[in-house]
Amino acid sequence: MQKRTILDLTPAELRGKRALVRVDFNVPLDNATVTDDTRIRAAVPTIARLRNAGARVVLCSHLGRPKGKPEAKYSLAPVAVQLAALLGVPVQFCEETDTDAAVAATKGLDNGEVLLLENTRFLAGEERNDDALSKSLARLGDLYVNDAFGAAHRAHASTAGVTKFLRPAVAGLLMQKELDYLGGALEKPKRPFIAILGGSKISGKIDVIEALLPKVDGILIGGAMACTFYKAMELETGTSLVEADRVEMAADLIERAGFRLTLPHDAVVAPAIAQGEQAHTVKRDAIPAHEAMLDIGADSALSFARAISAAKTIIWNGPMGVFETPPFNAGTLAIASAMALATAKGATTIVGGGDSAAAIEAAGLASQVSHVSTGGGASLEFLEGKVLPGVAALDDKAV
Ligand code: 3PG
Repeated sequence: MQKRTILDLTPAELRGKRALVRVDFNVPLDNATVTDDTRIRAAVPTIARLRNAGARVVLCSHLGRPKGKPEAKYSLAPVAVQLAALLGVPVQFCEETDTDAAVAATKGLDNGEVLLLENTRFLAGEERNDDALSKSLARLGDLYVNDAFGAAHRAHASTAGVTKFLRPAVAGLLMQKELDYLGGALEKPKRPFIAILGGSKISGKIDVIEALLPKVDGILIGGAMACTFYKAMELETGTSLVEADRVEMAADLIERAGFRLTLPHDAVVAPAIAQGEQAHTVKRDAIPAHEAMLDIGADSALSFARAISAAKTIIWNGPMGVFETPPFNAGTLAIASAMALATAKGATTIVGGGDSAAAIEAAGLASQVSHVSTGGGASLEFLEGKVLPGVAALDDKAV
């Protein structure tokens, strides 16, 4: 079911109204400095649109995982500074979230002004999706907008519960863009449609593999999780990360997926991550007993790149190796480049959030793919076919 967005609201529903906007400003901080403002930048189109429509913009978000009480290191104050710089207008910051003082601050806004409230996870009821808190949050706006795709897999008071008490409840532009790209790929992909999945653990990706298998033309597996498949093929995996309790599951997947599942046929191995100078490439059936697979090999990277080049829709989630540590970043960089080239040829290329988003950013190619998701856990759950509570809670679009 399609959801209503801010674009479906009439001018009268916005002008002079307090729009309570749930954003995902869960950004990395280093001593009160935002070190990656991707998620803040991603929310700017919604904020700008609301301001232009004359709404009074009240932003709320979580940051980190404080346990229901204030912790100075998780304050959103530094984010207000960064947002003001990006918008080029002042952003008021309220040190409270749902108190009478916070409500008064929202009512004191002029049309087009922006206010950021303190961390929603400083409130005990947030993660419990507490009704009393949801009701209290509802006092902060005249309408609700959810632009926090990255937190949409959480059924919390600020992402879901608040909509019981505050309508209209509509999607922001970032939320809609995420749903359009990810949903579009799953529902009506241009073919061939392939998925590249990496990362260290098969356990974190198993539901995605299961959900994607019937939809895709191929799944390419990289990262240490390939080793759990190797184990299932009775290959030597040395000291590589293997999830012993998932080997049977991997064997079953290999059997069911048949030719649609591709594993790397070579691997970059070394005695340890810190011993990159000893890295060398071996065939997958020749991993030495005292070494670990830390990246896919160059042959595999090339054949993955060819598959990407031949595809029309590509979803990539998870690095191919220890991409933070050269030389084990080569496989991941090769995938990032292949994604950019495929995009230039007209393919729809989607990078899942989290590590793969960081990797394409590090490669300087984030602007050269169709879409980089701002959601890590949320994009995975979406690809698993799960209903995201933060999306489900929004108004349905009339058909
Ligand atoms: C994320 O960083 O993936 C989102 O902001 C959700 O954060 P959480 O995992 O702490 O709920």
